[in-house]
Amino acid sequence: MFKIFILLFFSTLTLSADTQPFWWGVGHAAFQVEGSPADSDWSEWAHNPEHIADGNNADKGTDFWNHPEEDFRLAEELGAKMFRLSIAWERVEPAPNQFNEEALTRYENMLLKLREHHMEPMVTLYHFVIPNWLAKEGGLISPRFVDYFSEYELKVIQRLSNGPAKVRWWMTMNEPLVPVVAGYVIGLFPPGKKNVSEAVEAAKNLVKAQNQTMKLIHEDKNLPSDLQVSLAYHWRDVQAEGFGPLNFVARYFANKLANTWFLDSISPSTSLNYLGINYYGRYVLHLDWKPPFLRVDEGEGPKTDLEWTIYPEGLGHSLEEIYKLYHLPILISENGIADSQDIQRAEFIKSHVAEIKKAREKNIPVIGYLHWSLTDNFEWAEGLKPRFGLVEMDYKNMKRIPRKSFEVYKEIIKNGL
Ligand code: BGC
Repeated sequence: MFKIFILLFFSTLTLSADTQPFWWGVGHAAFQVEGSPADSDWSEWAHNPEHIADGNNADKGTDFWNHPEEDFRLAEELGAKMFRLSIAWERVEPAPNQFNEEALTRYENMLLKLREHHMEPMVTLYHFVIPNWLAKEGGLISPRFVDYFSEYELKVIQRLSNGPAKVRWWMTMNEPLVPVVAGYVIGLFPPGKKNVSEAVEAAKNLVKAQNQTMKLIHEDKNLPSDLQVSLAYHWRDVQAEGFGPLNFVARYFANKLANTWFLDSISPSTSLNYLGINYYGRYVLHLDWKPPFLRVDEGEGPKTDLEWTIYPEGLGHSLEEIYKLYHLPILISENGIADSQDIQRAEFIKSHVAEIKKAREKNIPVIGYLHWSLTDNFEWAEGLKPRFGLVEMDYKNMKRIPRKSFEVYKEIIKNGL
């Protein structure tokens, strides 16, 4: 009798492990695809052609705002189980504390459509863009930023989790340090500053915003108890060479700056349900005893159209390191390549997925892979030139043309890990 009980117990365990879906999918962000933008820091910024490498703006995007179903149909055909998209804060809150019901309903209907195509929505609430009224009040360094941010986020989560779209998977923010560095150190993103002390203030505000949002979510007893909330963090595999046994010291500090400082400050293991990781490559520190002492690049290897070095092994290293540090299920929330000729994309996907497979064999709980991106889209300061899509956009007529790598990814999804 006891034996039968034990057998039954273990077969249920195996069953539940096997039935956990691996979240194959794709992702994109509102401002990069929607078109018809509302008034935001980015809509104003992109209207100055000097700010965008190819002089384009995001006014048309891929017209996703008007035709979301076409992309849902393509993603379903691909075999995607999850579709990551973002909400444009500026549409939902066009003036301070005034929420636009019409915009919320439109997103709700969009998500319901997505569900009709048998995919789970993953919703990002802040993907680089803020309403212009907030930008004019000081943006990320406004003394009211943290309150505005967390109140907006709670409002949308309440509405779309409890409503018919039943959104369960959330990302409070995408790559928080990117708008900080690009907007306040390099000056490539709005507000176009080069001011390190403001950058520090902006980063600290994003930490506070994240912590306050998580607190509000945890305190709200009317929210469904099975929400999966995290952020998407841009993680690089950091390596150092040139200082022999002292490399690890340089590596420690660079890794802290690029990767762990922000995550440690938001105590991920106590507040998040999983960890979203965007992986695009590595940083290599080349150290020298002579001037200039330090040079940073992305190391040797094949390059993408944007000259980023392709380095799949770094995903493997990163997964091990991240899991050791934070003990959370990891979802690869972005990984992709600018490759207009579609020459390298198929191999890029295969080699990165192989790293995920290896990590899972080492019992690192990687729960999904969302390729960036389904279609070509507006690549921020670079404009429309870089082509990240599994599906090519013909911007003249907004036609979507699946590339060869679309078929390859489809096959990978079909065969599973
Ligand atoms: C961002 C995306 C961007 C992608 C490629 C990520 O940093 O989240 O919005 O398109 O990288 O640059």
